[in-house]
Amino acid sequence: MAYTLLNGKDLALRMKKAMSAQVEELKNKGAIPGLAVIIVGNDPASRIYVNSKKRDCEEVGIRSFEYALPEDVQEEQLLELIDTLNNDDNVDGILVQLPIPDHLDEGKVLRRIRPDKDVDAFHPYNVGELMIGNHAFAPCTPAGIMELLKDAKIDVEGKNCVVVGRSNIVGKPMSMLMLHANATVTICHSRTKNLKDVCKTADILIAAIGKPNYITRDFVKEGAVVIDVGINRTADGGMTGDVDFTEVSKIASAITPVPGGVGPMTRAMLLKNTIKACIMHKRGKLS
Ligand code: GUN
Repeated sequence: MAYTLLNGKDLALRMKKAMSAQVEELKNKGAIPGLAVIIVGNDPASRIYVNSKKRDCEEVGIRSFEYALPEDVQEEQLLELIDTLNNDDNVDGILVQLPIPDHLDEGKVLRRIRPDKDVDAFHPYNVGELMIGNHAFAPCTPAGIMELLKDAKIDVEGKNCVVVGRSNIVGKPMSMLMLHANATVTICHSRTKNLKDVCKTADILIAAIGKPNYITRDFVKEGAVVIDVGINRTADGGMTGDVDFTEVSKIASAITPVPGGVGPMTRAMLLKNTIKACIMHKRGKLS
């Protein structure tokens, strides 16, 4: 069966083009969107992500401000930086790159970000707003997946959607967005019994597990839409998803590649959330 390749790289490029024009328009009205990115320590993967986010900002004309703090930074110092950024009118969005070192209380740090600048949508206020469907921001990865499905005209309403993974960043918010789009949602995780059988009921299967090539052909119903959130590094320095693409693409009706699927969409949604925050902050002040 021929499958549709859900090309996130291509859609992200199209979105960035549109966002560049939107930022230009905002600048003409006297508003420049700004994103502050805080990175703590020297995690190489986090460094790559932060560099990509800064590059993306540059590409569309968003101002980015990086704050690199040492691995052993005191929690109070990090919280003070967040307070400063909360009060800085040049900053519309604040992002603390995760994970942060163990001696820092992640919950406390995320709660310190002003909810209207929380472009990751990890603050409990935004988590709650998402739950009741009244959200200004949705977390970037699930929001990017919804855009990808919409762009491919894949109807979600009434479909069985199985989400594998229950993280606060992907699994839980993904399930909420799917529910708001009228899918019938099942959330699976490491303790789920008969995972294979549950996955086989999915019209739309979303894998956010963190285990390379875990979802093989026998997890997937013929004709299902398969979304791979996994970013697993391979020994040769490459990247592979949670889905065995070669096998699963033989029976899926649509599937995301890794790389080039969900990853670029996550990055594009961060830009979108930052522009949205800017418009919210400058509303009434635009010339
Ligand atoms: N680490 C891995 N993914 C993310 C993300 O979406 N946002 C932040 N802040 N950190 C991450």
